[in-house]
Amino acid sequence: MGYKETLLQPIMIGNRKCENRFFAQPMECVDSDEEGNPTDLTYQRYEKLFNGHFGFIDLEAITVTNESRARKTQLEIMPRNVKALEKFVKRLKEIYPQALFVFQLTHSGEISEPEFSRRVTVKPVYGLEGDLLSEEEVDVIMDQFALASKIVQDIGADGVDMKLCHGYLGSQILRPYNDRNWKYGGSWEKRRQFAFDLQERILKAVNYDKDFLIGSKVSMWEAFPGGCGSAGADSPLMDMTEPIDMLKGLEERGAQYFVESLGNVHCSMEFMEAGKEDPYLSYLHMYFTDLMKKNLKPETVVVGSHFSSFRGKKNKLLSIEPEKSSMFAMGARCIEDGMMDMVGLGRQSFADPLTPLKLEEGREDEIKYCNQCMNCEELMIRQVPVGCVTFNKHYTDLFRQIRIEKGKLTELHT
Ligand SMILES: Cc1cc2nc3c(=O)[nH]c(=O)nc-3n(C[C@H](O)[C@H](O)[C@H](O)COP(=O)(O)O)c2cc1C
Repeated sequence: MGYKETLLQPIMIGNRKCENRFFAQPMECVDSDEEGNPTDLTYQRYEKLFNGHFGFIDLEAITVTNESRARKTQLEIMPRNVKALEKFVKRLKEIYPQALFVFQLTHSGEISEPEFSRRVTVKPVYGLEGDLLSEEEVDVIMDQFALASKIVQDIGADGVDMKLCHGYLGSQILRPYNDRNWKYGGSWEKRRQFAFDLQERILKAVNYDKDFLIGSKVSMWEAFPGGCGSAGADSPLMDMTEPIDMLKGLEERGAQYFVESLGNVHCSMEFMEAGKEDPYLSYLHMYFTDLMKKNLKPETVVVGSHFSSFRGKKNKLLSIEPEKSSMFAMGARCIEDGMMDMVGLGRQSFADPLTPLKLEEGREDEIKYCNQCMNCEELMIRQVPVGCVTFNKHYTDLFRQIRIEKGKLTELHT
């Protein structure tokens, strides 16, 4: 089978049919209004992804509370947002009703920005001190996730991605570093219980509707001592026992899909999204998707991450023919070899939101490929609307203006 056939082949996710193997990664774009509702810029971005025929679209990290959040103009999902989000989903579903559309629910925890919100923590990490969360507060947060999930269901979206990655609250609680003795800290049994309880509360809120999709994007390895996927509270050694056990436990409790990821926005961002000097880090992600597939039931869908660096046939990878290392060829190869089921596109979905459609229509030569300039990331860190600085003039101009006003950013982390 050629890569086109593989990538355009449908797949079942739980009870739902997904049209093809393209997954639009959640990409925070800092362009909501002051109430956390979508603006024209948000509409433009998602309309393009729906027009681009992504089979599965994960709405960017949307916060379940505005008390603690990472971006000033981050999308929010609370009762006050229902009307605006309902209109948003309705509009997008009109464009390409086949797409499965889930919301990535998040709480930023220690990544919350103290300038405009409350930074909270379950155990202060060096460089990220915040208010210690009580058990009662975590209980309230879990209710906020459950309420948000009910809203997702009521407004006609297809499910949720319970965010457990990149150093936001989900990963903070799970990591071995959270060795404080409390309800969700200390032993692995107590830490993993957070993810299990959270998923159960969500499923209860949506009345265990089997058509409702539930899954998680996970940082299998946070890449710092004590981070998720390490051997102990201060151990620099990688150990996959806990992440695999958690995925199996979530699967047993009804999760239908998982999105692989690595790293943490505070300290190990290159593992999450490498710049152009490190395209080879993409291969590391495949090790983890393969491990996930080997340990989960065959029907549990695993989405691979970090495919933007493979680009088209004119990529910058050496030692392998470009025909074999292009994004499409490599994505299809990983699916055919059973390492994963879907290809996640993050930065590439900015560079060319019509990527799947162009493959479908035989217009591959018209695809614009991400050059990993990381200027989109810089816009996010600057707390301004995010998009492709290379191929979208609106963001090119915004980026230029910011560099003139504020100079070059010296460090790329939150
Ligand atoms: C500007 C920007 C925003 C992002 N926002 C999110 C997000 O909201 N949730 C998430 O899980 N990952 C987020 N990511 C990570 C991507 O979803 C993806 O995992 C990463 O970019 C690697 O995939 P790629 O090589 O296709 O870009 C973001 C990345 C960038 C550059």
